[in-house]
Amino acid sequence: MAIIPPHIVDDIIQTARIEEVIGEFVQLKRAGSNLKGLSPFTDEKTPSFVVSPAKQIFKCFSTGKGGTVVSFLMEKEHYSYPEALRWLADKYGVQIPEDKPATKEELEAISERESLYIINEFAKNHFVSNLSENDEGKKIGQSYFIERGFRQDIIEKFQLGYCLNVSDDFTKAALNKGFKLEYLEKVGLTKTKDDRHFDFFRGRVMFPIHSVSGRVLGFGGRTLLNDKKIAKYFNSPESIIYNKSEILYGLHFSKGDIIKYDNCFLCEGYTDVISMFQAGIQNVVSSSGTSLTKEQIRLVKRYTKNITILYDGDAAGIKASFRGIDLILEEGLNVKIVLFPEGEDPDSYAKSVSSSELEQFLAEHTQDFISFKADLLLKEGENDPIQRAELIKEMMHSVSLIPDQITRNVYMKSVAQRFEMNEDILTNELINNRKELISKTTNQPERRVEPTVNPVPEEKKPRINDDHNEKDLMRILMLYGPLSISVEQLNEAGKKEQIETSVAELILHELNVDELVFENPVLHRIHKIIAESVAENVLLKSSYFQKLEDQEIVRFATEIEMNQYELSDNWIVKHKIHTNSEKDKLHQAVMSSIYSFKVGKIEKRIREIQQIMIDKSDSITDEELMDILAEQVTLEQIKRLISEKLGRIVIR
Ligand code: CTP
Ligand code: MN
Repeated sequence: MAIIPPHIVDDIIQTARIEEVIGEFVQLKRAGSNLKGLSPFTDEKTPSFVVSPAKQIFKCFSTGKGGTVVSFLMEKEHYSYPEALRWLADKYGVQIPEDKPATKEELEAISERESLYIINEFAKNHFVSNLSENDEGKKIGQSYFIERGFRQDIIEKFQLGYCLNVSDDFTKAALNKGFKLEYLEKVGLTKTKDDRHFDFFRGRVMFPIHSVSGRVLGFGGRTLLNDKKIAKYFNSPESIIYNKSEILYGLHFSKGDIIKYDNCFLCEGYTDVISMFQAGIQNVVSSSGTSLTKEQIRLVKRYTKNITILYDGDAAGIKASFRGIDLILEEGLNVKIVLFPEGEDPDSYAKSVSSSELEQFLAEHTQDFISFKADLLLKEGENDPIQRAELIKEMMHSVSLIPDQITRNVYMKSVAQRFEMNEDILTNELINNRKELISKTTNQPERRVEPTVNPVPEEKKPRINDDHNEKDLMRILMLYGPLSISVEQLNEAGKKEQIETSVAELILHELNVDELVFENPVLHRIHKIIAESVAENVLLKSSYFQKLEDQEIVRFATEIEMNQYELSDNWIVKHKIHTNSEKDKLHQAVMSSIYSFKVGKIEKRIREIQQIMIDKSDSITDEELMDILAEQVTLEQIKRLISEKLGRIVIR
C-alpha cells in the first residue's frame, strides 16, 4: 500500500469534522459549546463523553480516552493510523494519490515488525483457546487458574492461556497457518536444533505482555511443576518488539486508573497485578522481576508523578530495592512504599482479605521513603552513633537526588525532625551532595561558555517564538529575585499553608517541577547562574549581573534596568498592571509572569507535536501516535487550567 503524503494527511484532517464522524457512533447532544453523549468505550448511564467541534477533539471522562478524530477511529474501530486516514479520506472525498510506493527497506522494516505482532497475536489466541477448548488445557491450565482463585472475567481480561506439553504444538499450528519460520524464531516462540523445530514454551500457563496500546509484545510462561531446578518463569527473549527494560506489565489495563487516582502501584510479579485487579485495585503495574529501570519510570511519568512501591514481606530484596527508590526520586517523581506482612506478596495478601480490607491496608501502610528507610535501617543500629551517622548520610544522599529544590528542602526538614538533627548541618550536606552530583553530570564534555562579543549563532531558529515570555520572566527573576513573597503550598499532611519564600526560589521551583528551561541561550546561562547561587543560599541582586564577564548577560541586565519603562509598557497593555505598582503587586506580577511563560511553552510544544504528526505521518507507529495524541490532549487541558489561573490573577 502506498504511503499517504503528508500534505494529503493534512488535508484529510482539516476536512474531517469530528462531530460528524463520532455522530455515526454515538448519539450526541448539544451542551454549551460542546457535544455530549454516552461513552462508546464503557457501559455508562450518565453521559461523560464530550466532543468539542471548536477544538476538534474528544474526551471520554469515564475511560480517560481522548484525542482527535483519527485517534477516535483507531480506538473505536481498531484501525491502524493509515487505515483511519483512508476511512476519512473516503468519507470526505479526499483523493489519495497512489503513486508513491514506500522504499523496499521501509516496507521490509514495517513488515518485520508487523509480522512479529501478528504472530504474537496468533500465539495468544492459540494459548487462550487451549484453555477452554483443549482437554489438556482445561484439565491442567484452567484448573491451575481456578485453584489460584483467578476469576473467569479476569482470566479473559488478561488473556491468560496455556501451552500444551507437546514438543511442537504451537510451531506446527503457526507453520500451517503460513507464518515464516524466521519470524517465529525472531519472536522467540520457536527454537531450532539440528533442523528440528520445537516450541519454546511447553506445558506452562501463559501471561501475554501487552504494549501500552494493547498489542502483544511477548509472553511470560509459568511452570506448573514445583521443581526448584526448573525456572518458575520463562519469558520471551528480547526482540525488535520486546524490550524488557521499557515495558511494564499491566500498564495497558491500568493507565486509565493511574490517571484517575494520580498514583501507580508498582509490584514485582504478573500474578500480583492480576490479583490486585481482581480485588478492584486497578492502578497497578509490575516490573516483572527485573530491577526497575529509568525507562519504566518514564513510562509511568506520562500518567502520574506518584509511585507507590509494594514490597514483599521477606526483607531479603528490600535493601537492594533502595536503588529503585533513588531512581524514582532522580526522575523527579514522588515515591511511597507499602511493606507487606512477612511472607506475603500483593498477590497472596489480596487474596487473603476482602477488597475493602485491602484498600484499608494500603491506605494505612503507605509510608514516605524517609520513614520507610529510617525504620528499616534504624532496626539495625538505633543506638550506635556511627551507624546512625551513616544512616543519616544515606538518607541525605537520596534526598539530594530530588531535582526540585523546594521538595528537596521539605524532605531535608523531615530528616532533620526524624533524627533530631540541626537543619543547617543537613543543608550543608545537601549543598555538598548537589555540588558533587552536578560536577558528576557536567564534568563530561560540558564546555565553559566563553564570553563573546558576537552573539551565539542560533543553530535552528525556533519555529515558534516565545522569547517575549522568556524575557519577561527573566526580568522579574532578576529584578525581584531576592524579595520575599508569600505563597500557598500544600504541606505534607495535604493542608494548605502560607509559606514565605523568595521570588527567585519560587520561580526556580516552578520551572523545576515542570522541567522547563529557557531556550534563549543568554537567558539559559543567567538561569544557571541564579540556580547555582540559590543552591548555595545566595540571592543575587540585579546589579550583580552587570558586572559579569559574559557581555551578552551584561547587555541583557542593562537593558532591563534601563528600559524598564519600555518593557513595562508592554506589560501594562498585556496584563493591565500599572508599572509603579508592579513591586507593590509583586505576587500578581510574579505569578502572571510564571503562568504566561508556562502557557508559552505549552503552546510551543503543541505546535511541535502537530508538526511531528505531519512530518512523520507515514512512518509513525500506532503507539507513537497514541502517545502523541495523549500528550496533546493533556497539554490542552493544562493550558486551559493555567489560562484560567492567569485570568483570575490578572482580573483580581
Ligand atoms: N520472574 C521471572 N523468572 C523467574 C522468576 C520470576 O521472570 N524465574 C519474574 C516474573 O515476572 C514474576 C516476577 O519475577 O512475575 C516475580 O517473581 P515471583 O515473586 O517469584 O513470582 P510470582 O509473580 O509471585 O508468581 P507466583 O505467585 O506464581 O509464584
Ligand atoms: Mn506470588
